[in-house]
Amino acid sequence: MRISRIFSLFSAIAPPAPRTDEPGRVLTAVERLESDTRLDPLLPPIRRRVRRIPRGGRDLLHGRQLGHPFHPIAVQVPIGAWLSAAALDLMPGEHRAADALVGVGLAGAAPAAISGWADWAELHKPHMRVGLVHAVLNVTAVALYGGSLAARIGGRRRLGRTLSFTGLTLVGVSGSLGGHLAYRQAAGANHAEQVPYIVEPGWHELGSMSQFPVGEPVRRTVGEVPVVVVAENPQTAHVLADRCSHLAGPLSQGKVADGCVECPWHGSTFRLSDGYNVKGPATAPQPVFQTRVVSGMLEARFTPHGAQARTSGTGGTGDGQAAEE
Ligand code: FES
Repeated sequence: MRISRIFSLFSAIAPPAPRTDEPGRVLTAVERLESDTRLDPLLPPIRRRVRRIPRGGRDLLHGRQLGHPFHPIAVQVPIGAWLSAAALDLMPGEHRAADALVGVGLAGAAPAAISGWADWAELHKPHMRVGLVHAVLNVTAVALYGGSLAARIGGRRRLGRTLSFTGLTLVGVSGSLGGHLAYRQAAGANHAEQVPYIVEPGWHELGSMSQFPVGEPVRRTVGEVPVVVVAENPQTAHVLADRCSHLAGPLSQGKVADGCVECPWHGSTFRLSDGYNVKGPATAPQPVFQTRVVSGMLEARFTPHGAQARTSGTGGTGDGQAAEE
C-alpha cells in the first residue's frame, strides 16, 4: 500500500487534530478551576489551621533559608520513588525492591505535603483553588499507595500493583496542576527578579528629602519601576523595589519597624539596608537601590553593589558614599 493511501486512510479514521490557535480543553478546564468558587468556604479554615504552625517552622517549609521554595525539592522523593516502583513492577523478580520504593515514597510524602500546605496558605484565591484540587489528588494518591503497600505486604501483589499504577496516574495529573500553579500562576516564583533588567541605568531623582517622613514608606518610581522609599533620618534613605518578591504585594503600603519593611499581603519582611528577607513567605530578597542626596534631593540607582550588599548582609546602601562618585 502506498504511503499516501495509508495517510488518507489514517486521516479518515483519526479524530480531528486539536486546534492550535486557541487554548486546549485541558488548559480551559484548569483556567475555569481558578475561578470556580464552589470550594471557597473550605479555604479560610484550612488556611487558619496551616498558619498555626509557628512562623519559624513555616519559613523552613517555605524554603526561605534555601532562597527558593522547598516544596519542589520535597516532591522529588515520592515522585521518584513511585515512578521507580512502577518501572520495577513491570520487571520480573523485582517485586521486593518495588515494595520498598512504595514505602519510601509514602515516607517522603509527608514533608512534601506539609511544605505544600505552608506555601498554599500564603497564596491568592485563584492559586488556592487550583492548589486545593492538587492537594486532594495527592491525598487520594497517598491513600492508594498506602492501600498498595498493605496489599503487597498481605501478598495480594496484583491488587498492590493496580493501586500503585492508579496512584501514579493521579500523581501525574496533580503534578500538571502543580506546574500550572508554579509556571502559569507564578506561585513560588521570585516576583522581583526582573527588576535589575528593566530598571534604567544611572541615577534617578526621587524628590526632596523633605517629602519623605522618617520611618514612613513612600512609593515612587525609578523609570517604570515602582520603588519604596523609607527615610532613616533627614539625610539618609533606603530605596527598595516596591513589589514584594513573594507575590508582588506593595511594600509601600506595609509597616516599617526595626529597620525592616513588612509586606501588607502575607507579612514577608525585608531588611531596609540590604533587602534581605528576614521573614517569609518570601524566599527571595528584595532588590535594593544605592542612594545619594544631592542638594537635598534623593537619588537612587540600581547597581551590582546593591546585590553584593544584599548577599553579604553588610547592608548600607543609603550611605552617601555614592555621592562622592
Ligand atoms: S506578596 Fe505575599 S508577602 Fe508580599
